[in-house]
Amino acid sequence: MKKINCIGILTSGGDSPGMNAAIRAVTRSAICKGFAVKGIYRGYDGLVNGEIKEFTTESVSNIIAKGGTILKSARSQSFMTPEGRKQAFENMQKAGIDALVVIGGNGSLSGARVFAQEFDVPCIGLPGTIDNDLYGTDLTIGYDTTLNTIVECVDKIRDTATSHERIFFVEVMGRDAGFLAQNSAIASGAEAAIIPEDSTDADQLEQFIGRGIRKSKNSSIVIVSESPKCGAMFYAERVKREYPQYDVRVSILGHLQRGGSPSARDRILASRLGAGVIDAILDGQRNVMIGIRNDEVVYVPFSDAIRSDKAMNKSLIRVLDELSI
Ligand code: F6P
Repeated sequence: MKKINCIGILTSGGDSPGMNAAIRAVTRSAICKGFAVKGIYRGYDGLVNGEIKEFTTESVSNIIAKGGTILKSARSQSFMTPEGRKQAFENMQKAGIDALVVIGGNGSLSGARVFAQEFDVPCIGLPGTIDNDLYGTDLTIGYDTTLNTIVECVDKIRDTATSHERIFFVEVMGRDAGFLAQNSAIASGAEAAIIPEDSTDADQLEQFIGRGIRKSKNSSIVIVSESPKCGAMFYAERVKREYPQYDVRVSILGHLQRGGSPSARDRILASRLGAGVIDAILDGQRNVMIGIRNDEVVYVPFSDAIRSDKAMNKSLIRVLDELSI
């Protein structure tokens, strides 16, 4: 196995609060243990185009509290092609990078997996996504901050919903996963959540209506997990059509959910996992994502991490149902 002297870091896919804390942790921990570090800009595009810069401990000063990513991010089209990946490999060699650290979500780690297979490059992943949908880790970097942002927004929507006695359908991100929707619904005292992991969307709406939305309450909040076909707008229109007596509004939170200073929890998670990258490399680990399970840092093979069936604890559905009567 080739000795690793220099580590390249990139952030890829949708940004998430805490990515900077992760970049800082990987950089400082690597330098501390004698490695050189290079920052790669704009995700995999930066590898393909050779946007690579030497990093020192100062390169990551004062970034732990910042949202977004100082390395910028992208969803690279060129890296999806064999020619693009070849170019990326050549640039990596030219820059003297021996191992690649990829901070990102499902698509980004899938890219790392293919790259590692094609060119025998040691790759280590960090779970950086607000969606919390990576298998093998209890939490992903950015999820906690986004959850708190959503709850803050819903608390505000609650004020106006109560004043006007309205039903609000609030749409939150999550791609194909309902972690953000279900947990923000519990934390904000919402009346219901519509998530992909539960029964059909139509059944979930029926349940909410069936419970008698206004029996004991004169306003309601339903958190809806984003979906191209049936987002918050879809349900609002349906309720308006079938129950014209209700005053219905929609609020789509959008990209504000991805911004902001990371929570303490995300900063600590990013710091632990970032330091874990270097421990993993020294441990001879290759092509794994560093995750956290039961408060222990764990190594998750890429093939597991990118599985699309991370389970949601079904008791969360019961808790929301019971508490929203
Ligand atoms: O994966 C993170 C995420 O924010 C998803 O929750 C959302 O579906 C998607 O990215 C939005 O992507 P974009 O920034 O390209 O609109």
